[in-house]
Amino acid sequence: MKTLHVELGPRSYPIHIGSGLLGRADLLKPCIAGKQVMVVTNETVAPLYLDKTLAALSDYQCESVILPDGEQYKTLDVLNHIFDALLRKHLDRRVTLVALGGGVIGDMTGFAAACYQRGVDFIQIPTTLLSQVDSSVGGKTGVNHPLGKNMIGAFHQPRCVIADTDTLNTLPDRELSAGLAEVIKYGLIRDPAFFDWLEINMDKLLTRDTQALVYAIERSCTNKADVVALDEREGGVRATLNLGHTFGHAIETGMGYGVWLHGEAVATGMCMAARMSARLGWLDDADVTRAEALIRQARLPVRAPRALDTTRFIELMGVDKKVQDGKIRLVLLKAIGEAVVTDDFPPALLREVIEACTSM
Ligand code: NAD
Ligand code: GLY
Repeated sequence: MKTLHVELGPRSYPIHIGSGLLGRADLLKPCIAGKQVMVVTNETVAPLYLDKTLAALSDYQCESVILPDGEQYKTLDVLNHIFDALLRKHLDRRVTLVALGGGVIGDMTGFAAACYQRGVDFIQIPTTLLSQVDSSVGGKTGVNHPLGKNMIGAFHQPRCVIADTDTLNTLPDRELSAGLAEVIKYGLIRDPAFFDWLEINMDKLLTRDTQALVYAIERSCTNKADVVALDEREGGVRATLNLGHTFGHAIETGMGYGVWLHGEAVATGMCMAARMSARLGWLDDADVTRAEALIRQARLPVRAPRALDTTRFIELMGVDKKVQDGKIRLVLLKAIGEAVVTDDFPPALLREVIEACTSM
């Protein structure tokens, strides 16, 4: 097992990464202040991993709630199922919530923890690659709104993150690829040596070579923890973690939540951001080609769906947490490994890039 740390003063916490961690009561116990625990999971993950998680929590009054599975259920209505369960079981302010699942469960459980009785503790047990490399770390929690992705939420840091790499053995291939989008993101925004490593090792990751996966998760979490420690509430550099997301969120919302996976939409969004950076004269065409090639190699889409017309696409991009004074701000690239956040681009160029990056 490897343990990294997110350094946030009194809100600091460990990220444990390794095999066989799910049943480890010794990792959970230091993060649980009271005697009550509620595990939040979904109908896909529960039959796979709930019993093992509950067994590790046998010293506590332990309840569980099982949500429907899918991005389309990341809503305020479904969030209420968690509050219903907490209140019905009379769980008090010292309860610890445990998020057992992918990013949807992690974001919703974290938000429930931020709100229940004005804030209780929670633990992240991420079970997808995407959640192990990104969403479980950093304390962004929330739900979608029909008009915009992740628009309702709160910053609320977990007490710890326990990433058991064995859980990835049951993950469908499409979900593995979706997670690789966020892994590639770290290479593109701040870690060029990791980008080089990914170009050499992508096939190992796709065939689930354990050593390669563990390395990619550790390196991704190190990058994420560093950025979060610098800028917990996204006043500046943390926004670079959103490379491809303004484009991607428009695809997710426009196509209907769950039609494109988050990682797929981010992958295409990163290609669009790279193209836009090249059109501004910041990125070499050769680097756009490298970025697209790696994304394709990870079996991810590089073109936006034709079903979304450009005007609608731009309208959806305007519902984004980075928007300031009505202006869309984008994360763009100055080089592979160097990202900037800017609103300094001609609107006509954005339209051109969207059209050029839409599949025929
Ligand atoms: P997800 O949570 O929908 O999980 C993907 C699918 O895999 C689901 O069907 C899930 O039930 C299933 N699953 C989970 N673990 C499994 C396992 N071990 N074996 C088999 N199936 C398993 O999707 P995701 O990609 O994990 O997360 C995407 C979400 O994360 C989006 O809502 C996105 O907005 C959010 N996100 C949040 C942050 C953040 O910083 N908070 C960062 C990135 C993404
Ligand atoms: N996934 C973007 C962030 O955590 O800031």
